[in-house]
Amino acid sequence: MIKKILGIAIFLSLALTACENNSFVQTNIDLATRQIGMELDGMKAKGKWLNPVTLKADGSVHYCGYSDWRSGFFPGSLWYLYEMNGDTAFLTAAKALTAKIEKGKTLTWHHDVGFIIECSYGNALRLTGEQYYAGVIVEAAKSLSTRFREIPGVIQSWNVNGNSWQAQRGWECPVIIDNMMNLELLFHATRLSNDSTYYKIAVSHADRTLQEHFRPDGSCYHVIDYSIENGTVRHRQTAQGYADESAWARGQAWAIYGYTVCYRETKDRKYLEQAVKTFRFMKNHKNMPEDLVPYWDMDAHKIPNEPRDASSAAIIASALYELSTSPVESPGAYKEYADRIMKSLASPAYLAPVGTNGNFLLMHSVGSIPHNSEIDVPLNYADYYFLEALQRKRNIEE
Ligand code: GLY
Repeated sequence: MIKKILGIAIFLSLALTACENNSFVQTNIDLATRQIGMELDGMKAKGKWLNPVTLKADGSVHYCGYSDWRSGFFPGSLWYLYEMNGDTAFLTAAKALTAKIEKGKTLTWHHDVGFIIECSYGNALRLTGEQYYAGVIVEAAKSLSTRFREIPGVIQSWNVNGNSWQAQRGWECPVIIDNMMNLELLFHATRLSNDSTYYKIAVSHADRTLQEHFRPDGSCYHVIDYSIENGTVRHRQTAQGYADESAWARGQAWAIYGYTVCYRETKDRKYLEQAVKTFRFMKNHKNMPEDLVPYWDMDAHKIPNEPRDASSAAIIASALYELSTSPVESPGAYKEYADRIMKSLASPAYLAPVGTNGNFLLMHSVGSIPHNSEIDVPLNYADYYFLEALQRKRNIEE
């Protein structure tokens, strides 16, 4: 009898959790549909497709062109929303905005082709199966591969000629941890083309980054500068973090996400172990706030009076949902942590009321404090990874 009552109680509690999860996901899909729908209505009124990135100091929306590293995120968000809400107005917009950045496949002067094309064209191919999208992905991988430097065995992130701020730092071949996010495009291109060149470049980059970017505690540097001539490390520094030796929050997030993808694509456990190690570093950090939305840099000197970075939280949440389906110890704990992040991000502290925040979803992200740029603002990549996390949460729970 007692066993029967216990069984019924467990069943009811599981059913209740399933209902709560379902309603959390649906509520947020509905809110995002209304908020981004208002952005699309605005474009309709103006008669042109625009690619929103963030809010400017005067409160107006900053829109970007195809070569901006963030140009794939809004189209990608539209694909995720279409997938979750089935509304063909989002499909039309996703197709139009994806087509608008096709020239991104030809970019060879920076490393962000992976972000640009995989978030937009990668999702387009996944959801439509149209082979035209596959062609763009392979061409983009070809462009990204031109930045591979044989001797250090890495993809160069930034150019160091001309008058750019990167050129003034004295670097030869700078590689930023963010670059791990471009590898998904290369893995994808090998699957589509059967040309293993892209896969090999991705693995070489991931291996050298594993060797050079990480500290014994699992955290990572932002920039490693290599010698083009002999491949040695010239500098270990930061560009967007608080200090060379600090833990820039989004950098840690890129590392967790990037190595999770590398594990998915290669099944090499050392990548999974690095993703877990960097996640544990963040999770156990003395400055991780209770709501799990990191400060922009975990070592910034005025904590707790430093801006948070919702984009880092969203990237980590999305990666954790994937980790929770990987062969890790206690996978459920990864999902539980991701759910806690999502609960914070979906709270009024971070999720903007519909019709505010320039029609972006999340508030309180940081672009680059050292460059005095985009501080405590909405950012389209925070929204993109929030929606991706929502989609992953929904898939896992279904
Ligand atoms: N470079 C990409 C970022 O700011 O995270």
